[in-house]
Amino acid sequence: MELVAVRGDITRLDVDAIVNAANTSLLGGGGVDGAIHAAAGRDLLRACVKLGGCPTGDAKATPGFQLRAKWVFHAVGPVWRGGLQGEEMQLASCYRRCMELAQEFSVRSVAFPAISTGIYRFPKEQAAAIAVATVRGAAEGSGVERVVFCCFDEATDRIYRQLLA
Ligand code: APR
Repeated sequence: MELVAVRGDITRLDVDAIVNAANTSLLGGGGVDGAIHAAAGRDLLRACVKLGGCPTGDAKATPGFQLRAKWVFHAVGPVWRGGLQGEEMQLASCYRRCMELAQEFSVRSVAFPAISTGIYRFPKEQAAAIAVATVRGAAEGSGVERVVFCCFDEATDRIYRQLLA
């Protein structure tokens, strides 16, 4: 399984599935959530409404609609509250659940944003280390051939490139 860091907008990537950094309502928001809903079109919100929300640490799938990606895996990351309330486990769980969805939907390529490191304020370095370790640990038997860590800002891009070097 190939792991790469790419700088850019996840809604533009030509992969089988993109991961959304959503909230528990799954009804959209700002950041990457806003960008994905804007690019996918209103059918994405209609599909999300039917999912009835999603707990932190879990992820649920919808079609990608007008996105190039066939699927969107809506993951709900933890809000950073200092690190003593299980945030690291919850973040790892997001990545693991998305890899499980990738296997379930026979996805060969999946792109992740840096879940929880924006509005939810999870420290970037810690989050990236958790992301890479969890994805690597879930590779076996997942059927996934390529994982793209989509970095929207320079700092995140540098962190992932160092981790993956
Ligand atoms: N493509 C890729 N990455 C993006 C994009 C984009 N178009 N837009 C933002 N990002 C990056 C941010 O720079 C950050 O590195 O996604 C990462 C996650 O940041 P947020 O989108 O703020 O997500 P998060 O920190 O998980 O907070 C989730 O924000 O948008 C709301 O509804 C969402 O309540 C939820 C919360």
